[in-house]
Amino acid sequence: MRLKIGVFASHGGSNMQAIIDACRDGTIDGEVSVVICNNSTAYAVDRARAAGIPVYHLSGSNYPDADDLDEAMLLVLEKHKVNLVVLAGYMKKMSPAILKKFSNRVLNIHPALLPRHGGSGMYGMKVHEAVIADEDTETGATVHLVNDKYDDGSILGQVVVKVEEEDTPDILAKKVLPQEHMLYVETLRRIASGELKI
Ligand code: GRF
Repeated sequence: MRLKIGVFASHGGSNMQAIIDACRDGTIDGEVSVVICNNSTAYAVDRARAAGIPVYHLSGSNYPDADDLDEAMLLVLEKHKVNLVVLAGYMKKMSPAILKKFSNRVLNIHPALLPRHGGSGMYGMKVHEAVIADEDTETGATVHLVNDKYDDGSILGQVVVKVEEEDTPDILAKKVLPQEHMLYVETLRRIASGELKI
């Protein structure tokens, strides 16, 4: 299926950027149709604007009622004819209403080899800190389907990154992020081409 991707982001948006670029250079048969950000000052918002992609700030700050927020998000996804939701550094839990509407059509990336170092409270540097604290010899990234639990849905793809003795959480974060970009792009390419059925 030609993908019409709705990206949810909260921060820098480097994964989102990699996906936009891969759609535009033809690697992924699809396009990023819309971006939803819960943080109006996130760099992801600037990136989306620079790419000429519609971007919406939707969060508890402008929609204090959770049902209203769900409705606003669903309207935006429908308006832009989204057929796949991609969470890229999105720091909020997806609501059951969106998961129901986009059943098996919501993906997330996690900066570790799930099921290791996943679950509630495991995000960002906390993940890399846990890898170092546990003296893991390898880490990486995982793209998975999103369900109602944190970091729990079916795994669609993983990439392994070797942990060296001198690595710190900061070094690991810098090593893993470019691998995330490649993994997300490759997973979406496989979905768009039909190689990977979800
Ligand atoms: C990535 O490490 C992602 O795995 C995590 O948050 C980071 C987001 O980076 N969930 P970016 O916003 O895509 O640059």
